[in-house]
Amino acid sequence: MRDTQKIRVAVNGYGVIGKRVAAAVALQADMQLAGVSDVVTDWRAHMVIRNGFSLFGAATEHADAMRAAGLDVKGTLDELLGQADVVVDCTPKRIAAQNVEVYRRRSLKFILQGGEKHSATGHSFVAESNYSSALDREATRVVSCNTTSIVRTLTALKRAGLLLRARGTLLRRATDPWESHESGIMNTLVPEPEIPSHQGPDAQSVDPELDVVTMAVKVPETLAHLHYWSVQMTRQARKDEVLDAFRTSSRIALIDIGDGLVALNTVKELMADRGRPHDNLYEVALWGDMLRVQGDELFYAYMVDNQAIVIPETIDAVRALSGAVKDASESITRTNAALGIETSLM
Ligand SMILES: NC(=O)c1ccc[n+]([C@@H]2O[C@H](COP(=O)([O-])OP(=O)(O)OC[C@H]3O[C@@H](n4cnc5c(N)ncnc54)[C@H](O)[C@@H]3O)[C@@H](O)[C@H]2O)c1
Repeated sequence: MRDTQKIRVAVNGYGVIGKRVAAAVALQADMQLAGVSDVVTDWRAHMVIRNGFSLFGAATEHADAMRAAGLDVKGTLDELLGQADVVVDCTPKRIAAQNVEVYRRRSLKFILQGGEKHSATGHSFVAESNYSSALDREATRVVSCNTTSIVRTLTALKRAGLLLRARGTLLRRATDPWESHESGIMNTLVPEPEIPSHQGPDAQSVDPELDVVTMAVKVPETLAHLHYWSVQMTRQARKDEVLDAFRTSSRIALIDIGDGLVALNTVKELMADRGRPHDNLYEVALWGDMLRVQGDELFYAYMVDNQAIVIPETIDAVRALSGAVKDASESITRTNAALGIETSLM
């Protein structure tokens, strides 16, 4: 039954990001998951139903194939969209951009993910940076995992008046774990062919004031990304001032090598031990004890769980587009509480 107080959310594409978004929507007191649409008929579609969500086929042929596979299908994407206030498109890169016209024709608010270009929505979103400019808009794009982490961390330094310019090297995971049988590199490192890599300019699509350059290399593992940053600060600062700047973000968690969190796998194991769904690390996990300040220069490294970091941003983007919550910190607090996001991971 429809709860008129709640924002009705449709998720199109139930893959790595879509399944996490759907689960996160279902946890929000002010949202209702209208349903999930996809094209597959295998175990992934069965999981939609097992998780208690309504399943829709992207088109009639997909709904028919799902029915033939014995799945309880509620209809097509078109019908799902009729039951939603906002649609989150989590289909693979470049497919989402083709759906934009369908959403526009229905005057439906829509969110795209980082695989799409800024121009597809004209707005790129990271909650702690520019929530207010997404209020009541038709659409936004939640930027990629790497870009989200860059904007979160640099925004924290900027807020404290410490940021002059930032230069980062990104070690990017080769593929997503569940797709390791299909792609991914082994026994090599593959540099991105261009400097800057696209993530720096992408961060500027959220905040044009950021002076940021990135370089990237693909590495043979699937757990998460690892970033190394060198920042020119506006002035000499103490290490504790810098740590306090990062603490102003509710989505940056300071971790210590000294606590045994010595590598990406140990942090993932910590998330598993905490009982997070899919071992999700929603926060940027930044090594506080490793961080170094040298006069007006700052050096640090952090981990980005590419599969999880954009989930809280997507939830906040739903609230911003709907206009239901005007204040960024109010939305962020609600999302953080529902997902168990904390600045201390232990
Ligand atoms: N995987 C990541 O680490 C990651 C991180 C941040 C952002 N993103 C972005 O999120 C978006 C989704 O990526 P993903 O990794 O979840 O992809 P994915 O391939 O894991 O999932 C895509 C899902 O969409 C379904 N699909 C394919 N065509 C469809 C169609 N026409 N209609 C409906 N469903 C369709 C697929 O069956 C699959 O379930 C992309 O823009 C990507 O760049 C991905």
